[in-house]
Amino acid sequence: MITFSRRTTLVPCRKSFTDAIASWIKSEEDLALWSGNTFAKGFSGKRFRRHLDRRDLRSFAYLDKRSKPLCYADIVRANERAGILCRVIVDPNHRNKGLGKAFCKELMNWASQEGRFRKIHLNTFGHNGSALACYESLGFRRIFTKRACRKVGEKWRDLVVMTLNLSAFPARRP
Ligand SMILES: CC(C)(COP(=O)(O)OP(=O)(O)OC[C@H]1O[C@@H](n2cnc3c(N)ncnc32)[C@H](O)[C@@H]1OP(=O)(O)O)[C@@H](O)C(=O)NCCC(=O)NCCS
Repeated sequence: MITFSRRTTLVPCRKSFTDAIASWIKSEEDLALWSGNTFAKGFSGKRFRRHLDRRDLRSFAYLDKRSKPLCYADIVRANERAGILCRVIVDPNHRNKGLGKAFCKELMNWASQEGRFRKIHLNTFGHNGSALACYESLGFRRIFTKRACRKVGEKWRDLVVMTLNLSAFPARRP
């Protein structure tokens, strides 16, 4: 166990959680919003479990008091000093209640205390309003936008690159 609050627990993601998390992905758009082109060759529980074996990432789940997963994300080592926050997702039944922000804040606390990372980067789509609001509320800054660089369904979408300097985290935020 990494941390515990009254309602939620942050733990490394176990393979036994993957079927529940995979069930939150119901469309090509869901898959693209969550994972970009990570699973471009097709998504399945088996591929997700194989993904968790990657040596360059730490995976996390947020559990409710019955140990049911509410959120998933991973942090990939980019280089000696930086990590990349990837594949953040909240159970669709629990979105827009502050859970994504609380989860990402705990992940940044973990990354800050872990001591190896100075910065955390991430990419998200320019039309993903809730993700942008979630990351900006934690202090992530937009570094640049790659215009119309990835096709999702029939539409070419912008990709926004964001960075958080962990030396300034946690900043005092509402
Ligand atoms: C993005 C995601 C992780 C956010 O988690 P969440 O629990 O729904 O988000 P929170 O409730 O913590 O916060 C959402 C914020 O977005 C805002 N928001 C919601 N929809 C919005 C929209 N369409 N445009 C702008 N802001 C929006 C909310 O008002 C809230 O901000 P506030 O607290 O300042 O008012 C979640 O929606 C999700 O899993 N989405 C699908 C997967 C995904 O897109 N992952 C991102 C990968 S980069």
